[in-house]
Amino acid sequence: MTAPWGDIAHLGHVELLTPDLDGTVWFFTDILGLVETGREGSSVHLRTFDDYELTSLIVTGHSTSGIRRTAFRAGGPEALERRAEAIRAAGHEGTWVKGDAGTGRTFLTTDPDGHELALYFETERYQAPDDLRPGLKNQPQAKPNRGIGVRRLDHVNYLAADVLECAEYMQNLLGAKPTEQIRMDSGRIAARWMTFTNKSYDVVYTEDWTGSNGRLHHIAFATDTREEILRAADLCLDKGVHIETGPHKHAIQQTFFLYVWEPGGNRIELCNPLTRLVLAPDWELITWTEEERKKGQAWGLKTIETFHTHGTPPVGE
Ligand SMILES: [Fe+2]
Repeated sequence: MTAPWGDIAHLGHVELLTPDLDGTVWFFTDILGLVETGREGSSVHLRTFDDYELTSLIVTGHSTSGIRRTAFRAGGPEALERRAEAIRAAGHEGTWVKGDAGTGRTFLTTDPDGHELALYFETERYQAPDDLRPGLKNQPQAKPNRGIGVRRLDHVNYLAADVLECAEYMQNLLGAKPTEQIRMDSGRIAARWMTFTNKSYDVVYTEDWTGSNGRLHHIAFATDTREEILRAADLCLDKGVHIETGPHKHAIQQTFFLYVWEPGGNRIELCNPLTRLVLAPDWELITWTEEERKKGQAWGLKTIETFHTHGTPPVGE
């Protein structure tokens, strides 16, 4: 049975691990324009300017890279209880813990591939200090005067040994709606894009070619315009940030993109999803074939080899 639409409202924040904490914090503040809101042990809390919540991203110094946690805000207190009960009833483990980064009581569990998921409802709303006070009351924070000034954490793309199993978990237990997928000639689902909102995707699972578990392909931050992605490419070039591929336009989901590796090794996408929305309540899942995927990206750019070999933490690269 599919979970009720809206029980999970949206992607909240992500905790990334990095073996180069200073380099990673520099990347997110100086290049992407996130603002630091606090430190706790070896973790630095950061936010995008349009996040109404306190925190969009936590980066934590660690022996390696990867994603430690993805936090989702539930649609309400009852929705949160319902999801926790459903997850346990389906035989998955979960525990109630104190929330991180301004969030309240949190249900901590993992998807079938081992990615840690945190569900919460209570959250602290951001109050901008004087130097970041916005001109308009309907924006939580002034757009920062450095770096790109990305608007929001847009989506998370996980690697998983079994894409279909993870996608069905998201759909059946969290209420995600599948919008697009890749099906190989063998029938195997190699990737699936899903949404909790009317954006066309919030979470993605892509097959992990190494067969390992719990890894990250990338997290993405949305910009207001395509132009800002071109500027990001120039900025990364000047500052020595590794540009992996793009700027270009994806065929799947049509997102305008740039992929870079932040100094800690995690792949970060800058994306401009245009204003493409999924409004149909009875959206029909779009399936791309193996042959179609071979054509590469929308305007003909071939998919770069490292897209299929680099994930974090790295495994035998
Ligand atoms: Fe992406």
